[in-house]
Amino acid sequence: MTDDLYDENFVAWFRAVTPYINAFRGKTFVVAFGGKAIAGGFIKTLAYDVNLLASLGIRLILVHGARPQIEEELQEKGLESKYHRGYRITDADTLDCVLDAVGSVYLEVEALLSQGLPNTPMANSQIRVIGGNFITAHPIGVLDGIDLQYAGKVRKVDAEGLKAQLGIGNIVLLSCQGTSPTGEIFNLQMEEVAEAVAIALKADKLVFLTDSRGVTDGDGEFQDALTADAAELLKDGAWLSTDLKRYLPCAVRASRQGVGRVHLIGYEKDGALLQEVFTHDGVGTVVTRESLEAIREARPDDIGALIALIEPMEEEGILVHRPRELLEREIDRFSVMEHDGIIVGCAALYRHADDVGELACLAVNADHREWGYGELLMRRIEMRAKKAGIKRLFVLTTRTEHWFVERGFRIAKVDELPEKKRDMYNYQRRSKVLFKPL
Ligand SMILES: CC(C)(COP(=O)(O)OP(=O)(O)OC[C@H]1O[C@@H](n2cnc3c(N)ncnc32)[C@H](O)[C@@H]1OP(=O)(O)O)[C@@H](O)C(=O)NCCC(=O)NCCS
Repeated sequence: MTDDLYDENFVAWFRAVTPYINAFRGKTFVVAFGGKAIAGGFIKTLAYDVNLLASLGIRLILVHGARPQIEEELQEKGLESKYHRGYRITDADTLDCVLDAVGSVYLEVEALLSQGLPNTPMANSQIRVIGGNFITAHPIGVLDGIDLQYAGKVRKVDAEGLKAQLGIGNIVLLSCQGTSPTGEIFNLQMEEVAEAVAIALKADKLVFLTDSRGVTDGDGEFQDALTADAAELLKDGAWLSTDLKRYLPCAVRASRQGVGRVHLIGYEKDGALLQEVFTHDGVGTVVTRESLEAIREARPDDIGALIALIEPMEEEGILVHRPRELLEREIDRFSVMEHDGIIVGCAALYRHADDVGELACLAVNADHREWGYGELLMRRIEMRAKKAGIKRLFVLTTRTEHWFVERGFRIAKVDELPEKKRDMYNYQRRSKVLFKPL
């Protein structure tokens, strides 16, 4: 890359992330990762990224697991690893191994976050990491006749205590352990701790770092966004990776109980956390309670966004120019498509004669094409037209004839247009006329 191009990209990239930096300052993120991510060495680059998030004013709680490290301890001591319904059967000897393994993983993560070596992204960083008795646990007890002993569940989260720590700029590091009021220690599932903490704090984001890139459906199709309902249908998929099988149910529950977004991203991809958080489309799967996409009628305060959307297509001659004043007058003819709060598509309905309407200004932002938004907008206009008693819809287009033909429009002659529209027809532009009966 030439220096100039590098500079240009750098500046463009830095500007592109500014809205996210502003939006996330003061927000609470819970980032959860299993012992596999630590064993695989990915934790080192993760520490860099956590450092960056912290320095941007994001309030962070990290939750770590330690399954492979516990397995190692058990093996060394010649103990058998036993599970029942996904929970480790934790007798007193197993608990000793859990405490050793979790303790050393905790210290390892703490040490990585405390680095400050020059020539690394950690230079000048002054992260204060704290832990504590924020999680109260209770024993799971006997399941199907099997006593799980020191395997526990989260009973209570000290949300006030956590908020106080976050409020003074500390990063809280939690492990998969909890104590009971009787003074006993319980082995918890990392993902359940993360879920409980995110819900208790009504976190803006809960991020699970997983052993796969994100969620796929039964046909192997990658899902970049899922509603909690859609995720629920996939959560028992036999094709899901070990981590996803554990984390996806937590994601569904957390998003239904007030956590803004739950992200499932791969820990193997360097920088995945940053890409997921600071780019519009992310790299993993995001689970939200409601759909991120919404079609609605346009409002006057959408005009700025509409202009930004259609102006490049007007300049290319694909759409006819509409000055701001015209848009202001005609805003209620427009429907818009939102993705994640940003307007990415629009279409308008004009009535020409009693039963003839025009579908106009159908446009989808270049980054969001081929996601089916064009078709959804077309259907929205058709629905509005039908409601208004319109029987036939036409469209004028210079370059998208086939797109409309494939969606039920047929090519017509200029003469077929309603009189006024025919008189205004621009013979130089030579748009194709297409009609569709509704
Ligand atoms: C036309 C447009 C609105 C389609 O939006 P979209 O959200 O990508 O549409 P969808 O996702 O519903 O449909 C995508 C399909 O249409 C096809 N397609 C896209 N542009 C096409 C064109 N000009 N001609 C034929 N097919 C086209 C894509 O290849 C894709 O096909 P596939 O489903 O087989 O993969 C968008 O390309 C656009 O904004 N174009 C510029 C503005 C324009 O021409 N508007 C129409 C005149 S008012």
